[in-house]
Amino acid sequence: MRTNVAIIGAGPAGLMLSHLLHLRGIDSVVLDIQTREAIEGTIKAGVLEQSTVDLMCDAGVGERLLRDGSRHTAIKFAFAGAIHEVDMAELTGGRAVTVYAQHEVLKDLIARRLADGGDLRFGISETTVEDVEDDRPVVSFIENGRRRRLECDIVVGCDGSRTSTRFLIPENSVRTDYFRQYPFAWFGILAEAPPAAEGLVYARSERGFALISTRSPSVQRLYFQCDPATRAADWSDEQIWEELQARVTEAGITIPTGRIMQKDVLQFRSFVCEPMQYKRLFLAGDAAHTVPPTGAKGLNLAMADVYALDRALGSYYDTRDTGLLESYTGTVMGRVWRAQHFSWWMTSMLHRFPDVNDFDQRRQIAELEMAVNSPSASRMLAEHYAGLPLGVN
Ligand code: PHB
Repeated sequence: MRTNVAIIGAGPAGLMLSHLLHLRGIDSVVLDIQTREAIEGTIKAGVLEQSTVDLMCDAGVGERLLRDGSRHTAIKFAFAGAIHEVDMAELTGGRAVTVYAQHEVLKDLIARRLADGGDLRFGISETTVEDVEDDRPVVSFIENGRRRRLECDIVVGCDGSRTSTRFLIPENSVRTDYFRQYPFAWFGILAEAPPAAEGLVYARSERGFALISTRSPSVQRLYFQCDPATRAADWSDEQIWEELQARVTEAGITIPTGRIMQKDVLQFRSFVCEPMQYKRLFLAGDAAHTVPPTGAKGLNLAMADVYALDRALGSYYDTRDTGLLESYTGTVMGRVWRAQHFSWWMTSMLHRFPDVNDFDQRRQIAELEMAVNSPSASRMLAEHYAGLPLGVN
């Protein structure tokens, strides 16, 4: 088999890249070890920045998200006994976020790729990549019990935070990994219940962080900070509702309870690999960088990467000019590190660290007060939460 671009991983980055390349007439094959059902059924986050929404709409895959997503023009912070609102749209000239679950984005992209005759291969195994140093890399994998070989011009690693493609970039001589671990995780639930608040609420309390988000008028997504060793199954539904409520009571919020459909524990880490390319290999999305979920940046950074990569590949296939491909890492890295900073900042401003003392707690509240009350601090927060326009670093 032969294609222009072999894309490893059918997540937001891989599927969107394949779609954008198709719009330019560039062929790709997308490979994933998971089945289509597993990909379409895995619950993840769901905050789309303004530029992600615009990119999806411009690429003709935004219809369902405009219909079913909920647009939020403000971010709410609950702390020190009250709810404080940052009016994102007013501070950014009309930019906002849209809550639309990641697996719905994936369903839309998969449906569109298949309708356009795209080559997506799910449930493959034992993927290996050879010869990324040469002009003709080969991806080999097992499909339906048979080993297949896919020759291509370019390999793109979009295989998420458990990536294997990243390790094709030689460590030390070429690749540097930057890493930070946090002393907590998030306990997340998906529940059949009415909304606890209008819009997203980020809550800081002495018991730790909590987040109120939504999926639809009858399905809510809620999280609370927990110990990283927590096992979701060890918590009863009653304990979960109690803990969530305890973290928002002081701000005057009452969380309506309901049937819990799913429980999960999300580990927290900040990670960046530099460079995001090596010869004929390019990385995009979580394969190259992960952020803690507090800034809601993961999927959006993946989209910003493939926006840049699509343009670079477009220029390469149009004119054989490799300039934009060579400068890919430099093009996207500014945004990657700003998102790292923003995600770390939101995390540190809202969570309870194990070794906090009274000074740290008062200082944390002062920082939150600055973020919501100083017009320039609020604007900085709003710009980064709603997301920088694509092409701006
Ligand atoms: C979510 O709705 O899943 C969500 C919202 C905001 C975040 C993270 C996750 O910062």
